[in-house]
Amino acid sequence: MKFLDQYEEYRVYFETCLHKACAEMAFQPKILTESMCYSLLSGGKRVRPVLFFCTLDAFGVDYRDEKNFAIALECIHTYSLIHDDLPAMDNDDFRRGRPSNHKMFGEANAILAGDALLSFAFDLLLGECGRGNGFLRAAQSLSRAAGALGMVAGQSADLLYTGENGGEKELLWIYRHKTGCLIAAPLIMAACIAGRYRQEAEAFGMELGNLFQLTDDILDAVGEKEKLGKTTGKDAAEQKLTAVKVYSVSGARAKAQESALRCYAILDRMRDAQMDFLREFVDYVLERDR
Ligand code: IPE
Ligand code: IPE
Ligand code: MG
Ligand code: MG
Ligand code: MG
Repeated sequence: MKFLDQYEEYRVYFETCLHKACAEMAFQPKILTESMCYSLLSGGKRVRPVLFFCTLDAFGVDYRDEKNFAIALECIHTYSLIHDDLPAMDNDDFRRGRPSNHKMFGEANAILAGDALLSFAFDLLLGECGRGNGFLRAAQSLSRAAGALGMVAGQSADLLYTGENGGEKELLWIYRHKTGCLIAAPLIMAACIAGRYRQEAEAFGMELGNLFQLTDDILDAVGEKEKLGKTTGKDAAEQKLTAVKVYSVSGARAKAQESALRCYAILDRMRDAQMDFLREFVDYVLERDR
C-alpha cells in the first residue's frame, strides 16, 4: 500500500475512536466538555497516534486493540497546544484552521480544558495498566514524556530563552524536551507493549522529534498559513530561539537533511521489524508543508 493511503487508514481509525470518545464525554458544566472536544476534534495531522499505530504494526501487534493509548497521546498533545497558544505563552489566535481555544471559550476555560485533557489522559492510561508490565511501562513512559522531565520542561526553557541569546546547545535541549519527548513517546510505548527494541525506538523517536521541530520552525518562517492552519511569522515576532534564528532557513534545511539521515540509520538497527512505513514517515516529516 502507498504511504499516504496507509497513513490515512491509521488516521481514519484514530479519528473514529476519538469521535466516539468525545461523543461519550459528558463532563459538567457542559462548557468544559465543549471546549475539550472543540480542540480535540478540530483536525490536526494526528502524527503521534499514527506513529503509535504504525510502530505497533511494525512490531506485529494489533494496533486496533490499543486505541486508549492513542487517545491519551492526542489528549496530552492537544492540551499542550491549547496552553502553548495562551496569551501568557505564545499568544496565538489561530490553531488547526480555527480560532484558538481561548479565543472561543476565554482564557480561564482554555486553561481548564487543558487541565481536564491531561487528567483524562491519565485516566485512560491507568485503565490499561492492569493488563501487564508492558502496558504499565507504556503508561509510565507517556506520563514522564508529558511532564517536568519532558514537554513541560521544554516549554519552560522555550519561555526562558524567548528574547534571549541562546545558541545551538540551548536550542537542542528545548527541541528534545518540548517536542522530542512527545514524538518519541508513541515509539517507546509501542516498544514497551511489544516487548521489543525499546532503546532503538526511543533513539529514533527523539531524532524524528528533532526533525519535526526543525521543519516546524522552518514552516513558521516560510510556510503558508492556510496549509498550516496556524499563524506564521510568529517566532521572529516573539523573538523565539528557533533553528531559523540559529542556523538561518537554508542552514535549518541542511540540519533537517542530516537529521533525516540519522533517522534512517537508527531504523536500520531494527532489522527484523517492518520499518518501510517509518522510513517513509521520515520523508513525510522532512518534506511536509503543513
Ligand atoms: C505542533 O504539533 C506543535 C509542535 C510540537 C511542533 P503538530 O504539528 O503535530 O500539530 P497538529 O496536531 O497537526 O495540529
Ligand atoms: C510547541 O512549539 C511545542 C509544544 C509543546 C506545544 P511551537 O510553539 O513552535 O508550536 P506551534 O508552532 O505553536 O504549533
Ligand atoms: Mg511554543
Ligand atoms: Mg506556539
Ligand atoms: Mg512553531
